[in-house]
Amino acid sequence: MPDPNVQILREFLAADGDFVSGSRLAELLGVSRVSVWSYMEKLKAQGFDFQAVRSKGYQLTQAPDTLNQALIQAQLQPAAKNYQPIVLEEVDSTNSEAERRIANGQKTPFVVLSKLQTTGRGRLGRQWHSPENGNLYSSYAFRPQISPSQMSLFTLWMGVNICECINALCQVECKIKWPNDLHIDGKKVAGILTEARMEADIVLNVVLGIGLNVNSDGADWPDELKAIATSLRQASNRDFDINKLVSTLTGRIAIAYKKLLDGTHRAALKERWSRYDTLAGQDITLLQGESRISGTASGIDSNGSLIIERPDGTRYLARAGEVTIEKK
Ligand code: BTN
Repeated sequence: MPDPNVQILREFLAADGDFVSGSRLAELLGVSRVSVWSYMEKLKAQGFDFQAVRSKGYQLTQAPDTLNQALIQAQLQPAAKNYQPIVLEEVDSTNSEAERRIANGQKTPFVVLSKLQTTGRGRLGRQWHSPENGNLYSSYAFRPQISPSQMSLFTLWMGVNICECINALCQVECKIKWPNDLHIDGKKVAGILTEARMEADIVLNVVLGIGLNVNSDGADWPDELKAIATSLRQASNRDFDINKLVSTLTGRIAIAYKKLLDGTHRAALKERWSRYDTLAGQDITLLQGESRISGTASGIDSNGSLIIERPDGTRYLARAGEVTIEKK
């Protein structure tokens, strides 16, 4: 049974600023005009506003600028229609919440979004600074039931797709720093944290966590972050519609996930990676636990390993680790 709020919002979005008659909405929902009015009152309480004009109907005059479940759902593209958005005011970590929901049997795919995280986490046990400042904290949940080898390029593939989606929608020049950071002008704008549960030779479930700095002006960031992080707003001097961004990103992720399952992502990844690879040709040092490997970054191989050409002419293939770019 479709959510009436989502149906109403779809009508207004399709009208693109024009009026929608009350009788049209009543017919669509199969309810009385009084019921339509009461749904619209509830939408007003969420930050929407409508102008009513006799003989014309209603016009959408305002939409919330914070995460809104119905507005995200109303804008989902056909490829992502089965992706259920779940919007929370606050959570420990959207990845943890997605994992709990998977364990409780919630149908996948779904995406958990929160306005803030109290213990957002990053790679290598780091903390992900997650105050309520217009940024995106999101976790996509899947039950792929495929072999670990089919999943091996998951994070890199998703990274490329997220990067391309942000570039197209926000008109920025986002690049990828292997394995899973997105950068604009050399500063980190997003990080990806993939967590999976395996059994025998099968990947039971996967959570794709994305932290994307969207509308933060950086004022509330600790000093050490200010030097290395940026947001879409900082990079382009404007605010972004976070609900539109989530629905567009969800559409992109849905298509990318489908390609991953049917294997068509493999050929696409290598070529597309090289378009956005911020490390290519750079002198780098890879930190892997206690060991350091220095050389020139030279793209990725078919398994997604970072290729490092060492000064002695040998190649090192890195599966994991932390890369720093050496200053020239
Ligand atoms: C990294 O660059 O270290 C990865 C950062 C991933 C952060 C996101 S925010 C949403 C999701 N929930 C978490 O706790 N972490 C990921």
